Amino acid sequence: MTIQSEIQRLARSRDAVILAHNYQRAEVQEIADFTGDSLELARKATQVQASTIVFCGVYFMAETAAILNPGKTVLIPNPDAGCPMADMITAEQLRAMKAQHPGAKAVCYVNSTAEVKAECDMCVTSGNAEKVMASFSADQEIIFVPDQHLGSHVASLLGRKYLLWPGYCPTHARLTAAQIEAARKAHPGAVVMVHPECPADVRAAADRQLSTGGMCRFARESPDTEFIVGTELGILHRLQKENPSKHFHQVSDSLICPNMKKTTLESLRDALAENKTRVTVPADIAVRAARAINAMLGCAS
Ligand code: 13P
Ligand code: SF4
Repeated sequence: MTIQSEIQRLARSRDAVILAHNYQRAEVQEIADFTGDSLELARKATQVQASTIVFCGVYFMAETAAILNPGKTVLIPNPDAGCPMADMITAEQLRAMKAQHPGAKAVCYVNSTAEVKAECDMCVTSGNAEKVMASFSADQEIIFVPDQHLGSHVASLLGRKYLLWPGYCPTHARLTAAQIEAARKAHPGAVVMVHPECPADVRAAADRQLSTGGMCRFARESPDTEFIVGTELGILHRLQKENPSKHFHQVSDSLICPNMKKTTLESLRDALAENKTRVTVPADIAVRAARAINAMLGCAS
């Protein structure tokens, strides 16, 4: 029996659905029931009938699924798959910042811990941040955590100013504007797509700043046939699979999120076989975090 058929058999016997982020290994994306960006996966987690969700992604994503589904079992194949950006601010640090700005609303990127979400009025993902942030009045003071780059990207799109926490994604921070220019020279005419987690000069050097789901949609719908991709390289699998006649070039081979790669077919099989590792959030935190996530889902639907 192949490991793939073993996973499928175990998933059936556990009444489990497998969700995978666009940065997962190709073989993990292939076995998943649904692949998507953070927003699509958060939405999917609220719609599935299965009693168990196996989340192939990083911890905050599985935690979000657990917050939205208190009655379901949420498993993460490798509990060490964290997001360093999410760990760049604690709830205590956010409370201190809120105390300094008593009139401000607190907004968190979904790449944050449940404890930080519980302190926030609103959550956003890279797929809906512009739409959700536009729902605040222009004169509302906003604390935006933890990603300074997504925060400054949305602030400049909307012509607003936010109090930004200096967090960042170590993977996207490695990308430089010089690498974008070199990729343009190597592939003249190709459309450059980067993730809004990239630094400002990299975003400015690109043609489009899109979430991973936004990149998949754009590549599908665009009449263009050649693209330079400035985000984690796991997405290349889906882009190429969905658009076999188009060409995709990675800006840099070093754009690998080591945490996204911690989930393997073996760890997925073991998670299903042993019903591990269950992701739980204390009820008092989950209820408060759910308010920020549901405010986002209601606002951006
Ligand atoms: P997306 O929501 O665009 O999939 O991004 C998640 C993420 O962690 C990017 O680094
Ligand atoms: Fe976190 Fe960056 Fe990895 Fe996304 S790519 S999960 S932001 S470390």
